[in-house]
Amino acid sequence: MKHQRIILLFAFIFMGMPAWAADDNLVSAELMNDIGYGAIVAILILFIVVMLLILRTFKVLTKIMLKQQGITEDQVENVIKAEKKPKNETWIKLLSLRPMSEEKDLLMEHEYDGIQELNNPTPAWFMYLFYGTIIFAIGYLLNYHVFHTGQLQYEEYRTEIAKADIAQKAFLSKSANRVDETNVKLVNDPVVLASGQVIFKKNCSPCHGEHAQGVVGPNLTDDYWLHGGKINDIFKTIKYGVPAKGMPTWEKLLSPKQIADVANYIKSLHGTNPAGPKEPQGVKETDDKLALN
Ligand code: HEC
Repeated sequence: MKHQRIILLFAFIFMGMPAWAADDNLVSAELMNDIGYGAIVAILILFIVVMLLILRTFKVLTKIMLKQQGITEDQVENVIKAEKKPKNETWIKLLSLRPMSEEKDLLMEHEYDGIQELNNPTPAWFMYLFYGTIIFAIGYLLNYHVFHTGQLQYEEYRTEIAKADIAQKAFLSKSANRVDETNVKLVNDPVVLASGQVIFKKNCSPCHGEHAQGVVGPNLTDDYWLHGGKINDIFKTIKYGVPAKGMPTWEKLLSPKQIADVANYIKSLHGTNPAGPKEPQGVKETDDKLALN
């Protein structure tokens, strides 16, 4: 009979399983989670209850065993009491609480309308907190106003801004360095032209002349170009050079931004008619055509 019941129970559970599976879609995932958490908490509570029960059982068993050894219950209680600390001793100490029996000694002399005052000491935790604030204040003062090891709000703000500026400059120069002959832009920004002039004076003037009028290399201010007069062409010529004809490759010596700067500087020199120009070389490119770039 007993076995039959158990078998029947299992049979019902297994038969019910497909129904649960079908229900899966009806129960939302969140609800499933909640059910899961609930189950875990319930199991934990059950666990605690069982532990308490086991503890209780141990206590009872110990008492029975001690009794068998001829020790009376009172004796056991006394031993336990002697070992037990008075309840909440640390707590009482921390709050500086005094027992009721001492109240008489603590009473202060004055009395108003029957209201009297106890001379209780300030609780220890409060005093610790109080002294703590003083120590903190000294530390704060030294750190922020005497040794200036810490930064005050405005200084902190300025440091952050300076850091952001550096990061921004790094980012911009990085993106400026992504320039190449396909995307270089013609600009007349004085900063770019000044930078280009410095690069030109240092690297290019020996062959192209102080004013780009041409020496070994061609005149870069006239309408005639061997390799094209558009900003992209000039960038390309500088970058890769014309090694066979004596124009060096600058790709490895100058950054892409520097090449763009010096290319723009050369464009800005167009039509400046410097003294002692070299005879025209290459194909004439009209101003209209150049202006398009
Ligand atoms: C060692 C000498 C020398 C130096 C240094 C030199 N160049 Fe040249 N450059 C030449 C020669 C030579 C040519 C002509 C190449 C040819 O005949 O194809 C030339 C051509 C060019 C051209 C093409 C001109 C055209 O008509 O198409 C440009 C632009 C140019 N150089 C720019 C520069 C720049 C910018 C620098 C400095 C970063 C520089 N060069 C440094 C010798 C030099």
